[in-house]
Amino acid sequence: MVTGREISYRKFSETHPEDVFELVRVAVPDRIGPREITVQIKKAMVHPCDIGCATGLVNGIKLPAVGGFEAIGVVENVGESLVNHYQLGQRVHVCATHIFGSWKHWVGVWRDYCVFPPEALVAIPDQIDDEVAAQLFVNVMTPYAMVKEMNLGVDDVLLQTAAGSVVGRVMIQLGKIFGFRTLNIVRRRETAEELQDLYKIDSVYVYDGNDDDRNIISDKISQDVGSAPIKYAIDAVSGSVGRFCLDLLSPGGVIYYYGALSGDYSVNVDIVTHLCRHDKLVRGWSIQEHWLRNTPDKVKDEYIRSIWSLLINKKVILPPIGETYALEDFYKAITASQRADKRGKVMLSCLG
Ligand SMILES: NC(=O)c1ccc[n+]([C@@H]2O[C@H](COP(=O)([O-])OP(=O)(O)OC[C@H]3O[C@@H](n4cnc5c(N)ncnc54)[C@H](OP(=O)(O)O)[C@@H]3O)[C@@H](O)[C@H]2O)c1
Repeated sequence: MVTGREISYRKFSETHPEDVFELVRVAVPDRIGPREITVQIKKAMVHPCDIGCATGLVNGIKLPAVGGFEAIGVVENVGESLVNHYQLGQRVHVCATHIFGSWKHWVGVWRDYCVFPPEALVAIPDQIDDEVAAQLFVNVMTPYAMVKEMNLGVDDVLLQTAAGSVVGRVMIQLGKIFGFRTLNIVRRRETAEELQDLYKIDSVYVYDGNDDDRNIISDKISQDVGSAPIKYAIDAVSGSVGRFCLDLLSPGGVIYYYGALSGDYSVNVDIVTHLCRHDKLVRGWSIQEHWLRNTPDKVKDEYIRSIWSLLINKKVILPPIGETYALEDFYKAITASQRADKRGKVMLSCLG
């Protein structure tokens, strides 16, 4: 009997989610259903949302659960009704909340082997490296789907926070491709300088939620943007930074709140000024809930093809992976992914 390892959790912790994970050894099923595929996982991402899932505040996780949102691997075994669709050894991207269809159960990917329905697999083009392919969904589909949903185009202005995150960096590049302008807020001077250099943009602002800096940054943004309205904003920090974004948004604009990197899950919305007088639209946005559940498979397929093409043609370039840890060193990997000075995403390397 073949066994494999998985990084699972049996309880949630809002205060110390990094402590709930444990490594367990489980049997790998040698018999699978006709519509199932066994994938040997090679590399898995460590995303902020993976730690968020262990807080119990993210939808759809039932305990016990295996951690990890997305990974790449190779096809190891194919159910009888799918033998004409997959080849043994074929490289695939896999996702805990399968991209196609409507997912029902979270199937975490921090493990050596996993049995998936075909809706969870996306074939990886030969030209795409493992490290890039493993980031397809959370870091590239998220900003791409937002751009499409907001219908951002030439001369539009999008304000974003955590602009140094991979989502933020992809958004800056999509701005150049689709013609919209990004206004980018980061918390550290070093990140601002790096983004300015790398993407040849001026509009990067350092704001870490400190009230004393609000007016200075706000004046600088107004000067830079001139008469163009800020009709769109996305915020992944929440708390006082999220509130600042809502203040900066022009009347009639829309803001998507999609993350809480500050650890503060609330934003103070003024219903008189923001909502009633200025008619600002405040929305939450989740790729796994909102987007996956409301988007037809045909559109998902079209977006994936477009993303592969942008990556193959180097129109979108992802920052290099920072550190890679063996699966058994999951705790070190999670800790490294949360370090304030981390450079690049953290990855787990599984079997092989
Ligand atoms: N709702 C959704 O559907 C969805 C989908 C994808 C991602 N997300 C969210 O989007 C965010 C970015 O994800 P990612 O995978 O792109 O992250 P990432 O590449 O791992 O980067 C996170 C970056 O955000 C910055 N950051 C961390 N804590 C911060 C804080 N308190 N204030 C301001 N900036 C902070 C840091 O940049 P510096 O070190 O340079 O300061 C850090 O490198 C996360 O909150 C994630 O949960 C949400």
